[in-house]
Amino acid sequence: MEWNESYNIGIDVIDHQHRQILDYINALEQILINGQRDKIREILDDLIDYTQSHFSFEENLLQQVFYQYLPSHKGIHELFVKRLNEYRHRFERGEAIENDLYRLLSKWLINHIQHDDQDYVNSVRENMLHYLQSQEKKKGKSWFSRFFK
Ligand SMILES: [Fe+2]
Repeated sequence: MEWNESYNIGIDVIDHQHRQILDYINALEQILINGQRDKIREILDDLIDYTQSHFSFEENLLQQVFYQYLPSHKGIHELFVKRLNEYRHRFERGEAIENDLYRLLSKWLINHIQHDDQDYVNSVRENMLHYLQSQEKKKGKSWFSRFFK
């Protein structure tokens, strides 16, 4: 799956994280092609960790700018993390889940970016950019790395 310009929401730090998730999805696809089942666990762990970090980063940002639909956006994230963990458990039980997971991920990510994330961009983008700028000034460019392992 290739990154498409239309996937950018116009907030660099978030676009960068979305692209990173896409890289994980592509890594999973590579595993499907090569049939390296032993590597699936590694990718699953990385993908789930990173996705959770991205969600908490995004939620924190949305909270700072008083996004009114944060509770439902958070709910969508939680549900998705739950589904990812279900896949992880099925994998641990020995099920071949990678094709299903790949389909879910690729559909979900793009859909989430273009609909759910686009919705907050439309209402709080300017405030988010201001907030990010002020944080960068105060704490330096990598202050947000505290959300990531
Ligand atoms: Fe989101």
